[in-house]
Amino acid sequence: MELWDRIQEAVDAVRSHGIVPPHVGIILGTGLGRVAQQIRDAKVVPYEAIPHFTRSTVIGHSGQLVCGRLEGLAVVAMEGRFHIYEGYTYQQVTFPVRVMRALGAQLLVVSNAAGGLNPHFARGDIVIIEDHINLMNGNPLIGPNDERLGPRFPDMSQPYDRGLIERALEIARRENFVAHKGVYLAVTGPNLETRAEYRFMRLIGADVVGMSTVPEVIAAVHAGMRVLGISVVTDMCLPDALKPIDLDEILATAAEAEPKLAKIVSGILAYEAARLHHESK
Ligand code: HPA
Repeated sequence: MELWDRIQEAVDAVRSHGIVPPHVGIILGTGLGRVAQQIRDAKVVPYEAIPHFTRSTVIGHSGQLVCGRLEGLAVVAMEGRFHIYEGYTYQQVTFPVRVMRALGAQLLVVSNAAGGLNPHFARGDIVIIEDHINLMNGNPLIGPNDERLGPRFPDMSQPYDRGLIERALEIARRENFVAHKGVYLAVTGPNLETRAEYRFMRLIGADVVGMSTVPEVIAAVHAGMRVLGISVVTDMCLPDALKPIDLDEILATAAEAEPKLAKIVSGILAYEAARLHHESK
């Protein structure tokens, strides 16, 4: 079955739960799922109930779409995302973005837990993604292109929306916490990086490194969505002072930083709601 038809089947299944057409799609990263609990009038659709969706297996993820309202805006949130290291294909990992877009979402807010490469960053800091480097071994757009979904050669000169980046930084300043701008580098994982790799990543211009986000952003840009990407620095990756990874510490740091993420997400949505209201007048 063609991708287009699989998307339509998934959209029909989600709509059958009586959801409001979403304006915003939200993807919540490892240890960052609680933002979904603030969604009002939530209708929850487990991934098992959606044709062609895969299940999420990783710890810190549950696996459901949460549809409802946040700051007055209709949203659809993925609680639990798919990773390449779980064995999914790039098409499977980005399928939910296609479904969000087909449901009506025009804006994608995507979050992740990431390692900090920039020595000015600290564990628990927020990084607003201003650009990315794809060092994964694939791309969701490889294969025949369906022009109904997007162009063959999508432009990547500005994948992350400038206005939203500035707005997110402004929210952090107003709320009195640290948020940086930075370049996100994506690898497949699942192993953490070697010291030589961290050194290389820093050298080529990356500020944070993680195992997600870039495939979803490529699909979103292909589909014509505006994108805001947010990393939570869960561990520092300084090649000359590297400590062994502690997964519990990563999850704990993500949980501690989550209120900051929630503030940025709700601030951005409130801003977007005001903008839409203004446009409709
Ligand atoms: N590397 C890759 N992915 C990550 C890291 C890291 O150091 N920390 C959290 N996700």
